[in-house]
Amino acid sequence: MSYKTPTILCVDDEPLNQTLLEAVLVAHGYETLAADDGQKALDLLDRRQVDLVLLDVMMPGIDGLDVCRRIKGDERFRTIPVVMITSLRGREDRISSIKAGAADFISKPINAEEVLARVKMLLQSKGLCDRLSSAYHNIAKLTTFGEQLLTDFDPAHFDFMKNIDMIVDQIIRNGTNLADSPQVVLVGLMDLAGICQWYRYDSSGVINRRSCIHMPLERNLTFTDSGDRKVVFYNEFDADSSESLLVGELSRHLVPVSNLVRCSSDSFCVMALNYGRDVSIYDAGVLNSVVMQSLFLKSLAMQVKDTESAFDYMVYALARASEANDEDTGAHILRVGDYCAVLARQFGMSDLFVDIIRIQASLHDVGKIHVSPAILKKSGPLDEEEWGEMKKHPIQGQKIIGGHNRMTVAAQIAIAHHERWDGSGYPYGLKGEQIPIAARIMTVSDQYDALRNARCYKQSFAHREAVDIITHGDGRTMPCHFDPRVLKAFEAVASQLDEIYMASQTT
Ligand SMILES: [Fe+2]
Ligand SMILES: [Fe+2]
Repeated sequence: MSYKTPTILCVDDEPLNQTLLEAVLVAHGYETLAADDGQKALDLLDRRQVDLVLLDVMMPGIDGLDVCRRIKGDERFRTIPVVMITSLRGREDRISSIKAGAADFISKPINAEEVLARVKMLLQSKGLCDRLSSAYHNIAKLTTFGEQLLTDFDPAHFDFMKNIDMIVDQIIRNGTNLADSPQVVLVGLMDLAGICQWYRYDSSGVINRRSCIHMPLERNLTFTDSGDRKVVFYNEFDADSSESLLVGELSRHLVPVSNLVRCSSDSFCVMALNYGRDVSIYDAGVLNSVVMQSLFLKSLAMQVKDTESAFDYMVYALARASEANDEDTGAHILRVGDYCAVLARQFGMSDLFVDIIRIQASLHDVGKIHVSPAILKKSGPLDEEEWGEMKKHPIQGQKIIGGHNRMTVAAQIAIAHHERWDGSGYPYGLKGEQIPIAARIMTVSDQYDALRNARCYKQSFAHREAVDIITHGDGRTMPCHFDPRVLKAFEAVASQLDEIYMASQTT
């Protein structure tokens, strides 16, 4: 049940003809616009949406043939059918009209039945033409939209509701004219507990906004009631059908429904209501296609997140295994990762790098798995041989981590976290920027945490003392061991490191 009344522009310089056309057309449910010369007709076309033009040929100023040529020469109006009203009966004049782009002719004196028959036929064919053009337009837009969705797809930060907002926005703005768009879209999401939340989008709230806004519905709607039929469309509602119950529910509590397209799965339902024309299987297909895209991305994002979380878990598992004989605890490997993330962010590194260093810093001492527990747990100072074995752990760690490209930061940290900016570190005595930045950040983090913790051979230091030792030195730890820029970042965010340390003491 389409509720858009076709608008017919009647162009004639004879008032009697205008009155007659208007009377016939209005009586049969059409809306009319009147112009008594060619220029006024063109001005009206600019301002109003017109579905068909009845055009007198002989007029003062721009004549009918010229108006017809201009209509057909303008991309915006090309598909509007033009019917020439003419008393011209000669073959040549009719040929001129056809050449000007007229779709049909009506002879004067005007016959009401002839006018109605031709108008009805041409409006039907224009309707089909509009649908076809709209279909092409929509396919092109949906393809671009699909490409955009995939290009912007970031599984780690995928937000399903934001994605739905974008899709509904696309559906509502999709048409070449408003008749191709629904006035209302309802989205229902069922959670794992079977509780459904519905959201409403209104086209009036979208057209003038840059982004789509969803309004939660207090009312729960029937989620799905058509058995296996997941994609449906209706223009007429059978009083006995289950669909009719839903439409009754909607009409009573939300909005009167004139046509409806619905896609539903077990946990997700989208209904688009009240297009400006009858809906078809094509509209249902468009809705289904965008919904399927979104569900696919949601599923893909969940799988990627699962895999990433398993990857992080395994990194921590390996780190915990390596700490088994060490004085350090699981809390130490988590803390240094958090310190590294804070320092890296302050240092201006990317979000991705911050996320990576937070996890992979935990493997800095994985090489200690090869160091004898007697050395690791020795309470007194290490002798030369023991110290020699201990100093191998960066190389052993790098070997364990290997060369996978996802583990580059972990490998850099493992091999270089005991190197010092002034070249006095081990295993290679690297200097300055020869030491990877991840390792330079790690060195400060590891040192801060070592100072905060009591060891069997040393007391623990309070935050201010630890910061003072790192920034001013105590004879053993010296500022020249650290990258001055990392040290500056450390001073700026030291209080955050203290917060991380203190939080770990209460858990
Ligand atoms: Fe180490
Ligand atoms: Fe450590």
